[in-house]
Parts: sequence; C-alpha cells; structure tokens
Amino acid sequence: MTSTESGRRKYDQLAERYEEIFFYVADVGRRLVDHAAPARGARVLDVGAGRGAVARAALARGCEVSAVDASAGMVERLRADHPEITARRSDAARLDFPDGSFDVVTAGFLVQVLAEPAVALREFRRVLVPGGTVAISLERPTIGRLGWLHELNRRYFGGQSGEALTADRLDELLTEAGFDRVTRTDLDIAKPVADPAALWDWLALQGVQQVLDGLPAGKADAFLDEFLAGAEHMHTHGGIVLEFGATLHRAVVTGQVRG
Ligand SMILES: C[S@@+](CC[C@H](N)C(=O)[O-])C[C@H]1O[C@@H](n2cnc3c(N)ncnc32)[C@H](O)[C@@H]1O
Repeated sequence: MTSTESGRRKYDQLAERYEEIFFYVADVGRRLVDHAAPARGARVLDVGAGRGAVARAALARGCEVSAVDASAGMVERLRADHPEITARRSDAARLDFPDGSFDVVTAGFLVQVLAEPAVALREFRRVLVPGGTVAISLERPTIGRLGWLHELNRRYFGGQSGEALTADRLDELLTEAGFDRVTRTDLDIAKPVADPAALWDWLALQGVQQVLDGLPAGKADAFLDEFLAGAEHMHTHGGIVLEFGATLHRAVVTGQVRG
C-alpha cells in the first residue's frame, strides 16, 4: 500500500465526522479566505478540500469555487452538502486543470500531510494566473495546558513519527516554487470543554476507545485512571480548554520557478 493509499483510506474513514473532531477547521477556513481576500466572482480552487471548511467560506464571499480531494468519501459528502461547488477527486501533485485556470488557490491543512509538499506548490503555481494568490493554512504544534494528555498519550501509545513541516520551511518552499510577496500570520484558537466526560467524548470521536480495546486490560484501566485524574485536575484548576494553533500563509505568482 502506498502512503497516498493509506492517507486516502484514513480520510475516507474520517469523512463522516471530520469537522466534529477537528472543531477548529471551519473557523480557520473562514480566516484563511479572509487572508486571501478574493474578489467577488474570483475563480478559486480549494485543494484537499475535505468537508469544505475553506471552499464554503470562498463561496460565501461570492467566488466561483472548484474543489479537489484525494478521498472519494470527502468528495462525495462535499458534493452532497454543497452542490454549488464543483468537486472532484484529484491528487494535489497532479491537478487535473490547464495552466492559469484560477485566480486563487487555497489549501487548508493539506501541505502538512503531503510527502512532497514542494510538488504540490509547483502545481498550485501552474494552475494560477499571473498575479494569482495562494493561501495555505498549516498546523502549529500547540500543547498548552493539555501537556499532561500529550504526555499520557506518548507513554501509552508512542510518539508521532516524522518531521513536521514548519512555517519557516513552508515559506521557503513557496519562494522556491516561484511565489513572491510571502506573508504569514499566526492564529490561536481555544475551545472550552465542559467537564472530563466531555473531554472523553472528544477523544472517543477520534477512536481512542478502539485503541484502548487493543491494549491488555490492566494497561487500559491504568490509562483510564490516569486520564480521569488528569482531566479532573484540569477541570477544577481553571477548566479544560482545547488549544490549537495555526499559521496562515499567502503568496502571489510573480516570479520564476526555482529549485
Ligand atoms: C487535514 S484535511 C483538511 C481538509 C480541509 N481543507 C479543512 O481545512 O478542513 C486534509 C485533506 O487533504 C486530503 N488529501 C490528502 N492528501 C491529498 C492529496 N495528495 N491530494 C489531494 N487531497 C489530499 C485528505 O483527503 C483530506 O480531506
């Protein structure tokens, strides 16, 4: 199985509840489109559109919106929810559009999941008109007050592998792909959670119960005990808050492809 196939499968499985689990994407999608500031009627392509967090924000600004995603499950739901968006399955590395087809290309939380983001950035540039704008959001690791939960997760389930794409590196890649006037802005989003049970419900949405079912019984119980103690402590000491950070990147097509 290629990494693209495993990625597609993962997003097919997530598609149904994607925006419920990733509570911040709708908000970031709106802000990303504000950051790109497309004119009314602009032709916008949203790449890796998911359930449409970015695409529907562009639609709300009166843009003509096309969307692509590698996951059939995402595209199917996007079409059903937003028939006004032209949605199809396509790989960010080989966009199925002629050169210079769009005024704006957006990509919300996509480049961080790509094996070769530079290839996708060159494709974004190819399908943009001269003077066109690219707008990209990138997850910024934010642990904040949930450090105890990350630590618990690491001890029971192991750390994440691979090196994350940083905001600085993304700006460099944009320049290498032939974009100019690269700008960046930081976003911080916090979501208060009512109590430990609600925090558990949020983790359960992400499949933590299935993961626990795979652990030996004693280890699963120990995890639950530690989770409840940590959540209860946070609840009674300032409240449980999910914190999330992102950077919004914007650049314009004026230069030549480098590198
Ligand atoms: C983290 S989600 C972001 C979804 C949406 N843009 C948002 O902001 O909510 C990443 C999306 O990119 C899609 N994706 C992953 N690899 C892709 C690729 N090579 N080409 C196109 N889409 C891809 C996934 O199927 C998923 O829907």
